[in-house]
Amino acid sequence: MRQTAEIRGCRPEDRDEIYTYRLTGQVVLTVGVEEGWADPTDPRKVDFRKRPSFMGPIEFDNAGKPLNPHRTDYMLGDRGALLGKWGPNNAADSVVFTKPTAIAERKVLLIRRSDGSHQWAVPGGMVNPGEQVSAAASRELREEANIDLSKMESKLIYEGYVDDPRNTRNSWMETTARMFELDYTPQPRAGTDAIDARWFDCSDVESLIRATQEYDVSLGLEPQPLYADHHLLVGRGLLMLAA
Ligand code: BGC
Repeated sequence: MRQTAEIRGCRPEDRDEIYTYRLTGQVVLTVGVEEGWADPTDPRKVDFRKRPSFMGPIEFDNAGKPLNPHRTDYMLGDRGALLGKWGPNNAADSVVFTKPTAIAERKVLLIRRSDGSHQWAVPGGMVNPGEQVSAAASRELREEANIDLSKMESKLIYEGYVDDPRNTRNSWMETTARMFELDYTPQPRAGTDAIDARWFDCSDVESLIRATQEYDVSLGLEPQPLYADHHLLVGRGLLMLAA
């Protein structure tokens, strides 16, 4: 509480330095560093010229910690429980649609995340160190839905910040999302990192969200929104298809 009062009372330009409530998860500091997906504890050891943000030049506080371009006073400092990298953490997503036909509505491929949120999401995941973004997107699509679209044409629909629940003042998610429009409907099968994978009718975002929620209620589950900003990714894809 003292800390909240302290932050509220100080000049906005001093906030980043006096912000004391910090956290970086043990998994990040141990397994993450060993496996190479997490940075060292000191952000000054990171070469941010090799880690550009889609959001423009990165700002830093006096301790050399990168500052989330969409930070709020309520965000934790440091990297939080699960993000390994200081600054932008890169993901790659695939928004896979089928073409509507005379008898069938357009569909979109969603997976149910196995990260505890159990939310529906477009297939995607973190870009591994040294991996190309398009390769990461194809790998995740294979791993989560057992669908291989590596030879198919796709269109870029979004590059930028994602309002992800793991974001902190010093670490945040950015994604590159590509869209596919298929004239066939491959059978998805949930693989690693997903507990379900299926097509949902998707003439517009509202009816898609309703369809996922009705499906979950039919299974006795709590209705939820799509994961993070994924409704926006689907919406952008639909807009581009309509243009
Ligand atoms: C997910 C991506 C998502 C990103 C940002 C990753 O963990 O797998 O689908 O876009 O986080 O929220």
